[in-house]
Amino acid sequence: MNLISISDLTKEEILRLLDSAEAFRARRSRHGEPLKGKSLAMIFEKPSTRTRVSLEVAASELGGHPLYLSAGELQLGRGETIADTARVLSRFVHGITARVFSHNTVVQLAAHASVPVVNALSDWEHPLQILADLQTIRQRFGSLEGLRLAWVGDGNNVCNSLILASAILGMEITVASPPGYLPKTEIIEQAKSLGGLPRIVTEPADAARGVDVLVTDTWVSMGDEGEEAERLRVFGKYQLNADLMRIAGQQAIALHCLPAHRGQEITDEVMDGPQSAVFDEAENRLHTSKAVMAWLIGQR
Ligand code: CP
Ligand code: NVA
Repeated sequence: MNLISISDLTKEEILRLLDSAEAFRARRSRHGEPLKGKSLAMIFEKPSTRTRVSLEVAASELGGHPLYLSAGELQLGRGETIADTARVLSRFVHGITARVFSHNTVVQLAAHASVPVVNALSDWEHPLQILADLQTIRQRFGSLEGLRLAWVGDGNNVCNSLILASAILGMEITVASPPGYLPKTEIIEQAKSLGGLPRIVTEPADAARGVDVLVTDTWVSMGDEGEEAERLRVFGKYQLNADLMRIAGQQAIALHCLPAHRGQEITDEVMDGPQSAVFDEAENRLHTSKAVMAWLIGQR
């Protein structure tokens, strides 16, 4: 079993992982060690703060041994194939996580590895992030089904995973993005096949009105740096600010996977305000990572 897309999981599996994450949260450092004697290879082609640290701490608190592997320092960087890397790592370790530029890289790793492979962010999805988002939302609202979500900003990897998760879990999602940066048809079609009906608009206010959860992310994802000037020009009004929070209402919480570009996609006022859940969201990366690893690797 791998976790490449959030849609690799059923509704029941997601809810079980969230229950497990809550149990790990409640018993921080007093839980068992399901990864005792097991090693985890963590490949990173891109920088990371939360994903790296949460996975590394999670693995060691579960009794396992995490290995941080910068892609440029592996023989991958000198042309060894993804398939051979997957085969060799599978002889050493019990699980592989990979943060990659191209989604196909993590798909190829999974195809050739004989141990579980987890997508730690690709240009197409970020399933680990969405599990932490779901845990945060459930902590605040008690349940997930029927909640209303709005995504404001780039129709990117995190947005893709959130759209799919919403479909799986029966949440309503509206995405507000500038024309040209909307979620891809492929994701919308996949969401529909999972029972969802994502709404797509171009005005942030049309997405935000009355929702329970407002979510945003950087306007310039890792790998998009070449388009930075154009993106900063186009995305100006797609900002999670106090006006948008007011349109959503007092019940709404604000989420951001971080790192935030304060003053761009989110204001200080919202990040540090009473409706912000972003630091709980960041903490939940640790608990959900434990849940995923205990399930995928701990039971092998
Ligand atoms: N949210 C997230 O994945 O953060 P990092 O890029 O710091 O890992
Ligand atoms: N969409 C962002 C998420 C960072 C955690 C990126 O891919 O850079």
